[in-house]
Amino acid sequence: MNKKQKSLTISVLSGKGGVGKTNIALNLAYILHALNSPTLLIDCDLGLANLDILLGITPEKNLEYLLRPDTKVEEVLIPIEDGLGFLPAASGVPELVEWDNDLQTIIFKKLNLSLKKYHFLILDLGAGINSTVINLATISKLKIVVITPEPTSLTDGYALIKVLRTQHNIKDFFIIVNMAKDEKEGNSTFKRLKLACENFLGIKINLLGIIPEDNVLPMAVVNQTPLFKYKKDSLAVNHLQEIAIKLKKYRDILIPDLTLPFNLETLLKKNKSFQEKNETKK
Ligand SMILES: Nc1ncnc2c1ncn2[C@@H]1O[C@H](COP(=O)(O)OP(=O)(O)O)[C@@H](O)[C@H]1O
Ligand SMILES: [Mg+2]
Repeated sequence: MNKKQKSLTISVLSGKGGVGKTNIALNLAYILHALNSPTLLIDCDLGLANLDILLGITPEKNLEYLLRPDTKVEEVLIPIEDGLGFLPAASGVPELVEWDNDLQTIIFKKLNLSLKKYHFLILDLGAGINSTVINLATISKLKIVVITPEPTSLTDGYALIKVLRTQHNIKDFFIIVNMAKDEKEGNSTFKRLKLACENFLGIKINLLGIIPEDNVLPMAVVNQTPLFKYKKDSLAVNHLQEIAIKLKKYRDILIPDLTLPFNLETLLKKNKSFQEKNETKK
């Protein structure tokens, strides 16, 4: 495989909802694309899919269509611009809030074969912990956890990391502190989480970036336009740009390790050991 064709899959996670995951995923996709990195944005929030709303579009088909044997990825994928794609999810379909492992494997196997042209795959996930969140974090190379200075966001973020660390052996996390009043508040928020992770979970987490509270962002949301398009020189965009540059550097470093966009082997192995464990219990 051509080196340039290797994708870095990034999942955007959080303990608490409303911390800015969807806006971060959306704007990072636009910025990476503007930095000449082909990027695909995938709405994996099966409960409250809302990337389509922030993009101001009404998709006809969504990820669930990929479960049909003859539906091709190209039929679902929306080209926003050349080199910037979007895969929508269905919102408000209760039975689909969690895909079981088999359904996920079908979807991601199909995607694996068609997405090689993207340098970045950004997965916008739902808040909290469920099997979809766990499995998608497992098959992503880079895990971003978004927190805010609010104490509940910090504790919920810690709880999410704890479950992924202790029950699923995920150790590498990149943190974005969103809606910080200033750099100082952002740093102190990160420090608190870092200390808890070091002392109680024995892991070192990395600070990916701090995004300040920016009053223009809610206006972009109301206008159903990504902030990057609404106001390119806004405060939050400046900080998101720094994060995007870091992500490009990580991809360059990680290229020798990257194979297919989704690491399904880990997922299958994990599910196998899970099944075996349950069978021995029976
Ligand atoms: N940096 C920010 N500055 C100001 N408001 C923000 C910022 N980030 C997010 N928001 C506000 O938070 C709301 C929820 O963001 P969203 O991306 O939907 O969160 P999540 O996906 O985590 O639920 C947005 O509609 C916006 O009004
Ligand atoms: Mg969201």
